[in-house]
Formats: sequence, C-alpha cells, structure tokens
Amino acid sequence: MSYLHPATFISKGLSHICGKAVRAATLLSVKNLQAAESSRSTISVQFKTENSTELQYKAGDHVAIFPANRPELVQALIDRLLDGVDPINRSSSRPYVKSKGNNRYEDWKFESECNILDVLQEFPSLQVPADLLLTQLPLLQPRFYSISSSPDLFPGEVHLTVAVVQFNKKDGKGPVHHGVCSTWLNSLQPGDKVPCYVRQAHTFHMPEDGTVPVIMVGPGTGIAPFRSFWQQRQFDIANTSAPRPKTLDFTPDSSPQIRRRNFAASAADSPDSSPRMQQRNFANSPSLKRQIFTEKDRDEDASSNNASSLGKWGEMLLFFGCRNSTQDYIYKDEMAQAKDEGALTEVWAALSREPEQPKRYVQDMLKLEAFDVCEKLLTQQGHFYVCGDVSMAEDVCRTLQKSEHKPPLVSSPTITVLMGEEGVEDSLVDKSPMRRAFSTSE
Ligand SMILES: Cc1cc2nc3c(=O)[nH]c(=O)nc-3n(C[C@H](O)[C@H](O)[C@H](O)COP(=O)(O)OP(=O)(O)OC[C@H]3O[C@@H](n4cnc5c(N)ncnc54)[C@H](O)[C@@H]3O)c2cc1C
Ligand SMILES: NC(=O)c1ccc[n+]([C@@H]2O[C@H](COP(=O)([O-])OP(=O)(O)OC[C@H]3O[C@@H](n4cnc5c(N)ncnc54)[C@H](OP(=O)(O)O)[C@@H]3O)[C@@H](O)[C@H]2O)c1
Repeated sequence: MSYLHPATFISKGLSHICGKAVRAATLLSVKNLQAAESSRSTISVQFKTENSTELQYKAGDHVAIFPANRPELVQALIDRLLDGVDPINRSSSRPYVKSKGNNRYEDWKFESECNILDVLQEFPSLQVPADLLLTQLPLLQPRFYSISSSPDLFPGEVHLTVAVVQFNKKDGKGPVHHGVCSTWLNSLQPGDKVPCYVRQAHTFHMPEDGTVPVIMVGPGTGIAPFRSFWQQRQFDIANTSAPRPKTLDFTPDSSPQIRRRNFAASAADSPDSSPRMQQRNFANSPSLKRQIFTEKDRDEDASSNNASSLGKWGEMLLFFGCRNSTQDYIYKDEMAQAKDEGALTEVWAALSREPEQPKRYVQDMLKLEAFDVCEKLLTQQGHFYVCGDVSMAEDVCRTLQKSEHKPPLVSSPTITVLMGEEGVEDSLVDKSPMRRAFSTSE
C-alpha cells in the first residue's frame, strides 16, 4: 500500500471543492525583507513546486494559497464548544434576533469586525453543537499573491512577497486582527506543505516584443510581480539573443505602420510558450504580425547570422514607493544588481516618510517623468503596469491623464483610452477595503 502525505489528501479535497488543480508545494524559506527595527513585516516566501506541471507559470501570474486558521483561534473555538455553558449565569449578553426590520445583529457584526469565536464569546448563552457549526461555517477562501520570481531563473520554485497583515479592529481601538493567510505563511517552517494553484494573468504578462519599453509602478508589496519581470529579463539577457527592434504591422492592404498591440490578445494567442518562445514564434509566425526590417538590416542579416548584433532589449523603468530608505526599501540590492546587469534601466524610489524630506508618492515621481513615460507609451508602443492598492492605481492613472508635460502628440482622450475603463482588470481586483489594482495599458 502506498503512503499518501496528508497534504495530498487536502489538495485533492480542495481541488474537488474549488474546481482548480490544487497542488501541495513545499516551503523552502520565509524571510523578513523589512529591517529589524520596522514595526511591520513584509516577507519573502519561497517554495518549490515539486515539478508539478499544474504549478508552472509565467512572470506576472498569480498563485492562490489556501491557508489555515491560527492554532490559537481553533483551540479557543474547540474549548468554547466543549465548555459546559450555564445559560443563567453567563447570559450577560443576549443574541440579537435577526428578523424582518431588525438588522441589529448585522450592524453589530459589521461594526465589531468579529469572527465566530468573538460571537460565541460575546454571547455566552449560545450553545452551538459542534457538528451544526461545522456545517454552517463558510469555507476559508484562498488568497491571491503575485508571483515574485522568474520560472527560468528559479526553475521549480515560486517566490512571493507578502505584507504580514496585523491591525487593531474597530478603527485601531479593538482587538488585534492577524491577517489569516499572511500570518499563516509567516508561521511556516521549511518542509511544510502549501496547498495552492496558479492563476494565469494574461493581461499582466511581459510584452512579447522584448524591444518595447516596460513601465512598472509598484509601491510596497506592489513590487511583487515586477521582481518576476526583472528576473525574467536578467535571464533573457544572459541566455538569449537581444530581440530585433520595431515590431510593425504588416498588412497587405495597408502601408506598414506602428500598431498598438493588444497586450491581452497577444498574450492569449500563445498560451503555452515561454517569453523566449513567444519571441521566436512571433518572428516566425505566418500571421499578419511580422518583424519588419529596414533594407539595411536585411542586407546585414543576409551577410551575418549574428542577429544579436542588431537587437536591443527595451527599457524597463520602475517606480517603487516605500516609507523610508532604511526600513521598508525592499529588494534594494536586487534592484541595483538588475540595473547593473542591464535588466532595469532606471528605478525611482518615492519615500513617503523619510526624515526631513517632503512626502513623496510614486505618482509624484511619475509626474516628473510624465513626458518621457507618455512618449514611450505612445510612440514606442510601451507597456504600462500598475500593481498595488486601488486608490494608488487610480491616482497614478489620473497623474498621467492630467500631466501638463505630455509630448504634443499625446492628447487627454488618448490617455483616457490607454488608462481608462479597460485599464483595471476587474477580475484581478481585490474588492476588500485593502484593494489591489492590476492594470495595463492597451
Ligand atoms: C490578484 C491579487 C494579487 C495579490 N498579490 C499580493 C501580493 O503579492 N502581496 C501581498 O502582500 N498581497 C497581495 N494580495 C492581497 C492578498 O490576497 C491578501 O488579501 C492579503 O495578504 C491579506 O490576506 P490575509 O488573509 O493575511 O488577511 P485577512 O485576514 O483576509 O485580512 C485582510 C482584511 O483586513 C482588512 N484590513 C487590512 N489591513 C487593515 C487595516 N490596516 N485596517 C483595517 N482593516 C484592514 C481588510 O478588510 C482586508 O481585506 C493580492 C490580492 C490579489 C487579489
Ligand atoms: N505588519 C503589518 O501590519 C503590515 C506590514 C506591511 C504592510 N501592511 C499593510 O498591508 C497593506 C499593504 O502594504 P504594502 O506593503 O503593500 O504598502 P505600504 O507599505 O503600506 O505602502 C507603500 C508605500 O505606498 C504609499 N502610499 C500609501 N497610499 C498611497 C497612495 N494613495 N498612492 C501612492 N502611494 C501610497 C505609502 O505611504 P504612506 O504609508 O506614508 O502614506 C508607502 O510609502 C497596507 O494596508 C499596510 O498597512 C501591514
């Protein structure tokens, strides 16, 4: 009889329940990226995928993690359920009766931000049979995280960048809430199993055309997917020929013109190829999209097989934001190295709480660079990515829309098309108050 690890059973059960290919990854490490003196933690979580084909991914994809509740919470709930209850002596509070026109219970639940244990403790007279409770408790939902690693640079591994959520409920005056999944991830030990599945983010992949500029805006943990981008570029620079410049439309009935490629459509067109393969497929594709070279390029190409001498990687610009330079400037050294290797072209850091400096947000830095950014987006077919809190993403979009420093070519309506309703992918937006937006141009 073969032995099955409990995590395999759990993953099978979760696959069945959620209809996704949930697999058990194995934790390699958890490391705090913030300085020891910071009051907050942002962790790098690294796990191996055990060569599971279902956990293969591309730079920009997400992973859904199925966490467990904190053992203290589970134990306290068990104790409460097993506890003999004396309804006469312990009924200091009475449960609100939910009936037509009486929303007191709902209001109370919303205001107190309570979990099931809080409810049972607040109303000691409640006696709930454990089996009834188990049938009524909703399933713990998975949490999504942007993958922070390149599958080529770290084959068989997935890295995450996770803010460990911890806050006091009731506007800071109530008990501490430990974020369920981020706290669980932070508690894991090497070798522990992590049930998860990969969700492709077709509209958040790197451009197929490696020559076009990539502009990335990601304050705080919004940096997460961009680490996968610059790692992918580091790998590509070291292992592949630089791509040919200018991907142009080639349509028989129109003169060649620069075409703003639909990022979502082009990524979906080639679902299973790595960025390198996409580049190659694209060049060899019999489709209308072709690589157009100048006559001079053609001559040089004919006389030399060394295509890389003509190629050039597109620029990668990164707008990062954090509180200060000493506590939460995460991945600073990695960014510097990626810059040294030519993967990142420029990094701007907006420091919002640096002593003796004015408060700066990513949109403030972007405003200063708006002319160049708009020019790269519109005349060089650049791709624009924002990751992080929704209000930040909206501010960033407004900044570009309103910028007075646009090149003459760029009118406000064009920017609206670029950054407008299609910009924010609804399916990727976390609807909770701490929402995250993921948008891309085109
Ligand atoms: C597509 C996608 C990608 C994501 N990628 C990342 C990523 O790369 N890294 C990352 O860290 N997160 C990411 N998130 C967010 C992540 O999914 C979780 O929402 C987050 O980790 C919190 O989950 P939790 O279980 O720890 O907290 P929960 O127990 O779910 O608590 C979080 C909830 O607490 C509330 N809350 C949080 N902070 C406060 C506060 N200060 N005051 C009051 N209420 C508060 C909010 O209602 C929030 O919804 C992503 C979300 C999506 C949708
Ligand atoms: N241990 C913890 O409790 C812990 C740890 C990490 C993160 N978190 C929470 O997790 C959430 C996400 O954290 P995070 O690491 O991604 O981000 P973060 O560290 O909270 O913020 C990153 C940067 O974005 C700035 N910012 C805030 N609002 C902005 C806006 N509208 N536009 C542009 N920039 C803005 C912040 O500035 P200011 O903050 O100075 O305004 C900060 O400089 C936050 O709710 C955070 O509080 C909690």
